[in-house]
Amino acid sequence: MRILIISSQLNFRQQVQAACLGVTEENVSVRTAETIGQALELAVQFEAEIIFMDLTRNVEAGMIAIKQLANVSNRLVVVSIDKLSTEFMTRSVRAGAREVLSQPVQEDEVREIVKKAGPLLNNHSTAQPARTGKAIMFFSSKGGVGKTTLATNLAISLQNRLGGKQVALIDANTQAPNISPMLDLRPERWLRDAIAEYKRLDGELLAELMTVHPKSGLHVLAHSTDNPLGLDFSEDQLSKILLVSKGSFEWTIVDTFPLLSSLNLSMMDLCDEIFLVTEAVVPSLRSAKYNLEVLKKAGFNENKLRVIINRYSSFKGNVEPELVQETLAWPITAVIPYDMSATISANNGEPVVLDFPNSKISYGVQKLTDLVLGVETNMNDFEESFLQKNFRIAKQLLGI
Ligand SMILES: Nc1ncnc2c1ncn2[C@@H]1O[C@H](COP(=O)(O)OP(=O)(O)O)[C@@H](O)[C@H]1O
Ligand SMILES: [Mg+2]
Repeated sequence: MRILIISSQLNFRQQVQAACLGVTEENVSVRTAETIGQALELAVQFEAEIIFMDLTRNVEAGMIAIKQLANVSNRLVVVSIDKLSTEFMTRSVRAGAREVLSQPVQEDEVREIVKKAGPLLNNHSTAQPARTGKAIMFFSSKGGVGKTTLATNLAISLQNRLGGKQVALIDANTQAPNISPMLDLRPERWLRDAIAEYKRLDGELLAELMTVHPKSGLHVLAHSTDNPLGLDFSEDQLSKILLVSKGSFEWTIVDTFPLLSSLNLSMMDLCDEIFLVTEAVVPSLRSAKYNLEVLKKAGFNENKLRVIINRYSSFKGNVEPELVQETLAWPITAVIPYDMSATISANNGEPVVLDFPNSKISYGVQKLTDLVLGVETNMNDFEESFLQKNFRIAKQLLGI
């Protein structure tokens, strides 16, 4: 029996796991996930038969995830929450949950569920839904560090490598959207249309609401500067959009607004990786450190939450990446150099990776793309080598 336990609380995961492993009548194998985003992927890979889901932290995204997880024959979804209410029970059962587990977790209650599920699930092959794609969110609670620049260029770079209809870029910056001018797009449909239709949103409708970037083929869900709905967005609306996008694209890149709000947290929950962007400058580092502390408490670890230093240039008196790593007590995943090409391209309405493919920043984005795709990169960890630098400059001068 394959059991998946989803909770941001270590206690919950441990208690349910202990109870499951105590069932002697069944051959039990257990996996755990801290966030819903991780769990959606794991449920498919692991072909989970029973899923214990603790929705204490994120009820709205949880309800949508129940629908997706329970939409597999011969799978039992069990939900739990710290404060049980009739409304919660009704909603989760409607979404597809078959059992509700109270908290604190009672071992015998868990064992009972697992034993009961045994005969129900045996002798059936589990039909799995199509794999879901991966989502990456660019975040920092400080503005102007390069979230939009990096999100846009990573998306374009992934699209260039993969081709087809494989990459989506969502402008979830509800406060100050700017992906559309960055790519010089003229969208006719917007994020607000997806919000308005979110209940019936599916892959087909989402694709219709997206604008295709002509040069690359990237699918963009743009948001309008004329009409940012600001705080009117709800967690379940954005969660639904993100889940649908994950269902239709291999990669979904999300750009967002600089605030550690519940809206951003609910999207982070559904993302596979969060790229926390910072500059190697004290005010940015302070903000990054605070973000890391909060997000660590919320259950994000080093595999899911990655730090990227942007606009980096090495000069005497600057904070070096090694020191940033030490200060933040978090590994640095990538260092993107300071490069004026970023600003020139933003003014041109061109992604810098297409406008200046041999620029320093484009090399940095290519390295990040390698990392995301799990491809071996042949550049140094923190900076390009002397030879690479000269080769790049030569190519730039020759215009190739
Ligand atoms: N690596 C870089 N080197 C130089 N300028 C950069 C770099 N990345 C971003 N910028 C510039 O910094 C400014 C802020 O970037 P932006 O992506 O809008 O940040 P955010 O989305 O975090 O507010 C823009 O003018 C952008 O062109
Ligand atoms: Mg931005």
